[in-house]
Order: sequence, then C-alpha cells, then structure tokens
Amino acid sequence: MTAEAREAAAVLAARKPGFVPAIGLILGSGLGSLADQIEDSEIVPFSDLPGFPEPSVEGHAGQMVLGNLGGVPVACLQGRIHLYEGQSPVAIRTMIRTFKVAGCQSLLVTNAAGSIRPDGEPGSLMLIRDHISFQPVNPLAGPNDDDFGPRFPSMDNAYDGTLRQEMASAAKKIGVALPEGIFAGLLGPNFETPAEIRALQTLGADAVGMSVIPEVLVARHCGLKVVAISVLTNLAAGLSTTELSHEQTLQFAQIAAADLTRLIVAYLEGHG
Ligand code: HPA
Repeated sequence: MTAEAREAAAVLAARKPGFVPAIGLILGSGLGSLADQIEDSEIVPFSDLPGFPEPSVEGHAGQMVLGNLGGVPVACLQGRIHLYEGQSPVAIRTMIRTFKVAGCQSLLVTNAAGSIRPDGEPGSLMLIRDHISFQPVNPLAGPNDDDFGPRFPSMDNAYDGTLRQEMASAAKKIGVALPEGIFAGLLGPNFETPAEIRALQTLGADAVGMSVIPEVLVARHCGLKVVAISVLTNLAAGLSTTELSHEQTLQFAQIAAADLTRLIVAYLEGHG
C-alpha cells in the first residue's frame, strides 16, 4: 500500500521528469472537463499506476493529468473511486499518498452533492467548511504507517482556514457566489430518503454526497492541507418534486463546470 504510493509517484516522475506538483486536484462526477485546461499536460492512465483501480462510474475518466494550471504545477485525478463501488478504501489511501510522495503540499477536492438547504440552487457551488461522516469504513483503519502520519490524526481545521479564505477571495474576484457549508458524507450508492435528509438538516449539514471524506482523512493524516468545493447538482431527497438521478447530477455538474473552472484557475493564480 505504502509501497504502491511510492511506486506510483515514481511512475509519475518518470513520465514527466523534473516536474513536481504543488497541488493535487480531484475532479468529481461530470467535472473532469477542468483537466482539459491543464497546460503542458502529460496524461497517465490509472492502469499504469500501481494500486490505482479503474473507476466504474460514468463521468469519471480514470487518469492522472500532470501539468500547469493557473501557473501552478498540479497533479489532477480525473475521476475518482468511491467506497460504494466496492473498492477497498486502501486504493483511496494509495491515491492520496501518491500526491504526497510526488511532492504536493495541498489537495483541492471537488465533488457533486445534493443541497440539504432549500435555497441551494442546482448548479451552484459550496465551499466545505467541515464535514460529518456517516461512512462505515475508514481508509486509515488498519496498521498505521508512521512514515505518513500519527495513529490518531486531528481533524481540527481539516478544511484549512487560510486556503478557504484564498478560495473565498478568488470567488469574489470572479463574481461567483460561494457560501460555506457543512458536508455530510454517506456511503451510497442510493440517494438518501427524505427522512434521512430531514435528520441531516437537524444535525446541521448543508450538503450531502458519497465522496470527499475518505480522501480528506488520508490527506490530513499525511499533512496535506485541504480545500474542497461541492457542486450542488440537485436539491436533496424530499426537497423538490424532481426525481433524483445520476443523469441530473451529470447535467448540473456540467452547468456548474464553467464557474468551477474559472474559480479554480483564479484560486491557483492567487495561490502564489
Ligand atoms: N445525495 C448524495 N450524493 C449526491 C447527491 C445527493 O442528493 N447529488 C449528487 N451526489
């Protein structure tokens, strides 16, 4: 597992000699088009990377793109895997640790999520301030690898306050609304019941999805700073009469992708 992250990072280094990414990017459902903006890109399919499984969900390409975005060297996972695919969480651990070994200092995560707030417009964006995990597995469970981080990592400031400020400034600069909110992560693959959404509302969550959290846990464990944005693709179950579907997720992710791309490029340009 750890060996696989080191091997995968070595593959990346061999494919783009001298290139050291500063930021790892993870693109969520239907958001992969952002990777097309990466300049001087080198594309490495997951099949060339030890420990990286093929994603099985439509809208996820399954490749790592190395190159420059907004003047910053980035490593971009175009497509991710989800726990509901039945993949071992160890694969997620390998992917994030590959970013770390490759030289990244921070992780920028995007995902598609349902809005638990009735005013969360489909196609709008939310900056994740913190999360509540309802996922039954944890990629950090099992023997701890002390080379990467401590047995009991803190999740205080998991979504880095300084990076959130930088992201908020970028949003303001380009005129895109970016409210902060709490993300609740469930296993999936089913959408939630209306009763579950009412329960999540009571618990203080603003958006709900099936990804992000495992990646953030592994990133924080190994000292990568995290900033994360949810694309609100729908009102969560029970909040609208539209039937939930993956097609709707992809459709609104595509609508939001233009704003998200501008936002991420503005963030990277200001990141320094
Ligand atoms: N629930 C969970 N995950 C999601 C949703 C949702 O409503 N929309 C997009 N991903």
